[in-house]
Amino acid sequence: MSWAAILLSTLLGLRANARVASVSRTLFINDTPYYLPAEPLFTFGSDTPNITADALPFTVLTDFTKESSIKSTIAEWEAVDDIFNQDFMKTIVLRGPFVNVSEDVASFFNQSGVQTVLTALPAGPYVLARDASGLPAIYPPLRLHFDPSQSFYKSTFLKSDGSYDVVSASLDTDSSPYIAVPSRVHALAKNKTHFPLAGFRVSVKDLYFMKGLVTSAGNRAFYSTYPARNTTGPAVTRLTDLGAHMVGMTKMVQFANGDRATADWVDYHAPFSPRGDGNLEPSGSSTGAGTSIATLDWLDVSLGSDTGGSVRLPASLNGVYGIRPSVGAISLDEVLPLSPVLDTAGYLTRDPKLFSRFGKAWYAEAFQSYPAFPKNLLVSEDFVSVSDAAKDIYNPWIEKLRTFLGANAVGNYSIEDQWNASSGVGSELAVYVNETYSTLVAYYQWTNVGKPLFQDYAAKNGGRSPHINPQVRFRWKYGESKGPDAYAAELMKRETFENWTLNNFLTESADSCSQNIYLYPINSGTYSSRETYYSSP
Ligand SMILES: *[C@@H]1O[C@H](CO)[C@@H](O)[C@H](O)[C@H]1NC(C)=O
Ligand SMILES: *[C@@H]1O[C@H](CO)[C@@H](O)[C@H](O)[C@H]1NC(C)=O
Ligand SMILES: *[C@@H]1O[C@H](CO)[C@@H](O)[C@H](O)[C@H]1NC(C)=O
Ligand SMILES: *[C@@H]1O[C@H](CO)[C@@H](O)[C@H](O)[C@H]1NC(C)=O
Ligand SMILES: *[C@@H]1O[C@H](CO)[C@@H](O)[C@H](O)[C@H]1NC(C)=O
Ligand SMILES: *[C@@H]1O[C@H](CO)[C@@H](O)[C@H](O)[C@H]1NC(C)=O
Ligand SMILES: *[C@@H]1O[C@H](CO)[C@@H](O)[C@H](O)[C@H]1NC(C)=O
Ligand SMILES: *[C@@H]1O[C@H](CO)[C@@H](O)[C@H](O)[C@H]1NC(C)=O
Ligand SMILES: *[C@@H]1O[C@H](CO)[C@@H](O)[C@H](O)[C@H]1NC(C)=O
Repeated sequence: MSWAAILLSTLLGLRANARVASVSRTLFINDTPYYLPAEPLFTFGSDTPNITADALPFTVLTDFTKESSIKSTIAEWEAVDDIFNQDFMKTIVLRGPFVNVSEDVASFFNQSGVQTVLTALPAGPYVLARDASGLPAIYPPLRLHFDPSQSFYKSTFLKSDGSYDVVSASLDTDSSPYIAVPSRVHALAKNKTHFPLAGFRVSVKDLYFMKGLVTSAGNRAFYSTYPARNTTGPAVTRLTDLGAHMVGMTKMVQFANGDRATADWVDYHAPFSPRGDGNLEPSGSSTGAGTSIATLDWLDVSLGSDTGGSVRLPASLNGVYGIRPSVGAISLDEVLPLSPVLDTAGYLTRDPKLFSRFGKAWYAEAFQSYPAFPKNLLVSEDFVSVSDAAKDIYNPWIEKLRTFLGANAVGNYSIEDQWNASSGVGSELAVYVNETYSTLVAYYQWTNVGKPLFQDYAAKNGGRSPHINPQVRFRWKYGESKGPDAYAAELMKRETFENWTLNNFLTESADSCSQNIYLYPINSGTYSSRETYYSSP
């Protein structure tokens, strides 16, 4: 036997024994890139005639009573979807009202060797392709999008067992992975009462643990120290239960702290904001959340987290809507903590109506309605010192809000004055809470995340220390210098401030939630370049 013949027989032997566990594919239909996940929606039996094409795009139509209804369906799909197009119209499957095959018909088919396929595929685009064992199967096509903002670590896809897979496709790119998104057409058939977020594409800050995925929390050592997560937290599973799709994990400031792009982003490169000259400081810590939602029109919502501004700041710098909800608005189980008394799960959108729909569905039982609007607008004295350009935007907006609410505006409102007048604490607020935030976050995170990471990393790496970006290193050192007594004292100060707020500042009201709305400029409207070098923390 020749050498080549031996090799061939070896290969054939291997082929007979090898079991390919799964196959995922990148394919082009005309010039558009798509991704087929490993799991088909449906696999045909082994006696089905083989398909000769590698992949056959097709469309299921359920309403084909009139030419006009087909035309309007196609027009609607083309308007809402970036996947369905004429390439999927070359093969059409017409699916009538779903009826069960009666037993005698089933047995007639069976005796005639006919395989009946009782699968109620919803209307929309699909791809017929061979599965891992060569059988014909039906797949949902995912569209692959380039991400010029470099917001993502990876693109994700939910498997039927509830764990996440990484989308394995890549195409020519300058660094960011391509992001796969499912068709919006399949969501149109879902009942909006049960699936209010059907078709929503959501990016996830890489501190929400996702079953099957390794979490980075923005740190390379953390990523390489811990295994893939075995649980997805309730904040994310609620979204998938409501019909939303998690498209990928976004970049973040390490462990949800604060960093500047050029000074501090050592482990990973900071994403790009599309605003201004394209070189604005993108802020954080929900950095990729802000840049992805501002840049990518195929994305609907970004999940972030806000402890001390981590959603509000990227929202303001990227020109989108963002929220820090009340602490406890939604469970933060299986989310990397910074401070449990201050951490919140927030999100960002470009569209205010979609912003409202998403919040009502996500915060669900924590979401409350009141019969009246707050009667007073407390307009912070800090508006005096914003840039003139920002004043031109802020001032007319504040006036519109006041008119809409029918509220009184209290200008130049000072929290310090009100604190002095009503707290009874006898110490300036800025002095009283000077180290409250820093102690609460740094002591807690050093104790519960930092210290265990140093130990676990050392155990795996011959006693060496993990690399931590300068800002976080500085904060953790500070946290390490605080003891449990200092932490307890600052917890009391936070609670004192909260009590004062409820009674004297954002006074509670059964009618309108709070009597007052406090407006403050989180951004002074000045240019801040990502090229700036800063001195050490
Ligand atoms: C389909 O192709 C596979 C592999 O080539 C072969 O084993 C199988 O018999 C074919 N099935 C039919 C129904 O022709
Ligand atoms: C089809 O059969 C299933 C299972 O027997 C039953 O639940 C369903 O209601 C039937 N559907 C119709 C349209 O008769
Ligand atoms: C016919 O029924 C038998 C017994 O239920 C089953 O094993 C077989 O797969 C069926 N054949 C087809 C073609 O559906
Ligand atoms: C959606 O579900 C609700 C509640 O179960 C039901 O009342 C309604 O008829 C459903 N709508 C459609 C279009 O099926
Ligand atoms: C999930 O992971 C955690 C942390 O690594 C571990 O303590 C727990 O036993 C795991 N649970 C299961 C079901 O594997
Ligand atoms: C706020 O204070 C500034 C200067 O401190 C003053 O010019 C401005 O008129 C005040 N605005 C209101 C609404 O009182
Ligand atoms: C508040 O009171 C402190 C003394 O407790 C005083 O030093 C400070 O100037 C006052 N601040 C304001 C804004 O009135
Ligand atoms: C806050 O604490 C820092 C560090 O101890 C100190 O340098 C600063 O002066 C303090 N600021 C106030 C307003 O008390
Ligand atoms: C805050 O108010 C609650 C409820 O009235 C009270 O139980 C608690 O002791 C107060 N905390 C502080 C630090 O004053």
